[in-house]
Amino acid sequence: MTGRIIDGVALAAKIREDVASRTSALIAAGTKPGLAVVLVGSDPASQVYVKNKVAACQKAGLHSVLEQYPPSMTQAELLDRVRALNADPAIHGILVQLPLPAHIDSHLVIETIAPEKDVDGFHVSNAGLLMTGKPLFRPCTPYGVMKMLASEGVQLRGAVAVVIGASNIVGKPMTMLLQSAGATVTICNSKTRDLGWHTRHADIVVVATGKPRMVDGSMIKPGAVVIDVGINRGADGKLCGDVDFDSVIQVASAVTPVPGGVGPMTIAMLLVNTLEAAERAQHKRAQ
Ligand code: GUN
Repeated sequence: MTGRIIDGVALAAKIREDVASRTSALIAAGTKPGLAVVLVGSDPASQVYVKNKVAACQKAGLHSVLEQYPPSMTQAELLDRVRALNADPAIHGILVQLPLPAHIDSHLVIETIAPEKDVDGFHVSNAGLLMTGKPLFRPCTPYGVMKMLASEGVQLRGAVAVVIGASNIVGKPMTMLLQSAGATVTICNSKTRDLGWHTRHADIVVVATGKPRMVDGSMIKPGAVVIDVGINRGADGKLCGDVDFDSVIQVASAVTPVPGGVGPMTIAMLLVNTLEAAERAQHKRAQ
């Protein structure tokens, strides 16, 4: 028996269609949703990600701007740009692509983004709202994973979930969202002793470690759902995830592929967050 492949491309396309129609309605009501994406430096992977984000916005009818700066940009200059975007009424969402160059304090930059424009959901006030069960923005990757689990009809209430990786971008917010949905969640990392013992007890495994193919079929409970957030370039030059897809799909009931799994969902949820930020701004204006 082999598991199903969870098609992130198809689900993301559906979500983007819905964003496009809500965007048309919002434009008719007088607000065009706008996203600013800021990239500092010349990391090739980040350049691809930000271009994809901006292109997806344009395709769905949102206004988007890509600001690219050299690695020599100072922290003070970046903070000035963020403050200017905070004050720009045409911009409802601000995304500063991470990682930033080492001389810039990422935490300070994120804290400078206005929380109501923080479409990544990384600001401490948004992290706090998520933790207390009243999220304003859900971070895009974990939000996309939740949509994938819902589309597969995965029962979360009472389920045992293991999240591998404890980053602020994926692991921690993923844990919060699964837990709020009623799952019992263990958060592991790539150094967890006897990681397979944890994963073999899990109905849902979410892997976000950046370690190519570190989870294989022997670590998965038969029938579990496996979500691969990783995107790595293997020794053969091909993209691969943190999950050994070929062995895991023999055991799991469903697995996300790389590419074509979580990646497109992250972008779709960024559009949702930007649209919703603009809807809130329009609502406030109308009051
Ligand atoms: N770098 C990797 N993933 C992300 C993300 O979701 N948002 C931002 N801002 N940077 C990232």
